[in-house]
Parts: sequence; C-alpha cells; structure tokens
Amino acid sequence: MKDVAEFVEECIQKLKNEIEGTAIIACSGGVDSTTSAVLGNRAIGERLVTVFVDTGYLRKGEPEHVQALLRNMGLNLRFVDASAEFYKALKGVTDPERKRKVIGNLFIKMFEREAEKVKADTLIQGTIAPDWIESGGQLRDVIKSHHNVGGLPEEMKMKLSEPLRDLYKDEVRKVARHLGLEIAEKQPFPGPGLAVRVLGEATRERTAILREACAIVEEEIEAAASRGECELPWQYFAVLLPVKSVGVRGDVRAYGETVVVRAVQSIDAMTASASPLPYSLLERIGIRITNSTPEVVRVVYDVTHKPPGTIEWE
Ligand code: XMP
Repeated sequence: MKDVAEFVEECIQKLKNEIEGTAIIACSGGVDSTTSAVLGNRAIGERLVTVFVDTGYLRKGEPEHVQALLRNMGLNLRFVDASAEFYKALKGVTDPERKRKVIGNLFIKMFEREAEKVKADTLIQGTIAPDWIESGGQLRDVIKSHHNVGGLPEEMKMKLSEPLRDLYKDEVRKVARHLGLEIAEKQPFPGPGLAVRVLGEATRERTAILREACAIVEEEIEAAASRGECELPWQYFAVLLPVKSVGVRGDVRAYGETVVVRAVQSIDAMTASASPLPYSLLERIGIRITNSTPEVVRVVYDVTHKPPGTIEWE
C-alpha cells in the first residue's frame, strides 16, 4: 500500500463508482469487516446495510458490545440472532474444513436472505490478502478455507466487492487508524468464530466452556501486559480439545476437558511465533480456567510457531 490517505480516498471513490444501488456487508466488529463497513459507509452512506450476525460462536459479551459500537459509528445496522440455526447446522460436524464450509454456506444463505429484504445488489467483504492466499488463491495448496472466501457459492446473485483484498493486517490497521476507528488495535478473530476453536463438535455446551476460557485468557493477558509483565501478544485465545483426560476434583476422580492457551506474535499472520508468556501468568490462567469451568481438568500452553503450526488449531 502506498500512502494511507491516498488509499482511503481512492477506495471510497472506487466504491462510489462501483455501487449503484444498495450494498450489504457482514460485519463482525473486527478490524477487517469494520474498516470495510466504514469505507463503504463513507462512500454510499445509508445505502450500505451492515449486518451483524450472532452465530452463537462469538466471544463473551460480544453481541451486545459490537452492536453498540457499530450503531455509534452511524452505520445502518441490522442485527440477526442466528445462533440456533448455526448450532443446528454444525450438529455432528467434526471435520475442520467441513465446519468452515458449513458455516460459510449458512452465512451466505443468510446474507442472501437479508440482501433480498433490502434489495441489495452488492456484497462488500472484508477479505484481506492472507485469507485468499491461504485459501489457495495463488496456486498454493489450500491451507484452510477462510470463511471470507471458502463459503461463496459459484453463482452468487450479488456483485462482490473486496476493498481490502490486497492489504495485509498491519496495513488494514493503518487504514483503520486513519479512519479514527477504536477497533484498529483489536486482535484478529476468525470468521467462523469460536467454532474453529472448539475442536470436534462445536455444540452450544462445549462452546460455552470455551467462551469462558477465552475470556479468561484475554482478561489475564491484557492485565499482565498493562502491568508491564509481558508484551501484549498479537493474538491470544483458548482452544478446547476433543481430548478428555483424567483429573481429580476434591477427592474424586474426574474425567474432563482439555484447554489449550495460544498466544502468538506476528505481523501479517503469514508467520507467527509462540509468545514467551511468563510462567506466573500461565499459572494464573490455568487456575482461573479450572476454577470457573468445572468441566476442564487440564490447561496446556502451545509453544508451536507458524509454520509448522497455524495460529488457529483448525
Ligand atoms: P491461521 O490459523 O491460518 O490464521 O494461521 C491466520 C489468521 O487468520 C485468522 N483466521 C481467519 N480470519 N476468516 C478470517 O477472517 C477466517 O476464516 C479465518 N481463519 C483464521 C486467524 O485468527 C489468524 O489471525
């Protein structure tokens, strides 16, 4: 990307020229989709309908927080609670690629439904470069079907517009900062949400366990970073494994869930290194997770860099 101001100006102009009628965007409140929504809003104002879907795979407090944030930005917002539909669609689905496809397809179906309601002819997406590169866009093997890319049907009725398609994450943050968005520094969150952090079947119940663990990881790491105990990682979260192990609660044998803590440093998500978090912080996280989620009897730390590991576990 050349100059940020120039990029923003050209992008808004391009969207103005490209979109004749009404456009629709799926906004998760993350950096990519919110930046895209704000660019779209600056280009065509109320003619951009921003849809925020609660898939049931959002983080703790996110549905309420993101709605308030997007409304305060003056976006023309539609909120859809689709959690029941998503849990139903993922029933029995354990394969990671299948999970992504099911979620992507349901997402698109919902958008087509919302788009029909508002008669939108253009779909704006917050796709960024690593999303399509890692989905096989450059003759590379598919690493993961990213949600922004993998779910699109071959014959989509709407025209597709991807204003951030050629940017990497650090560049998107620059654009967001330039636009004055408070989400500019927010850590990345995958399109399929917590569903790809609950390995195996992402049921409502298992997702609730992971949601609590993720909140604890975020809270503890942010607090430690603000006290100067460590650098704030680029991304940090919890993963629930499909592996049970033997533990003990009180004097009784417990056979329970395993949570992985993942924290990485990265610049563009293409490569990443596991963050060297202080042991005392990891210990606090472990104690809090096992105290607040009785189903979990074991917490482990992932020390794998990318490559060979990816940042998310699915
Ligand atoms: P991986 O796990 O492939 O992830 O190393 C690289 C970065 O992308 C995020 N991620 C996604 N972002 N849609 C997105 O918009 C997706 O489907 C998706 N999957 C992973 C991931 O959190 C990391 O920051």
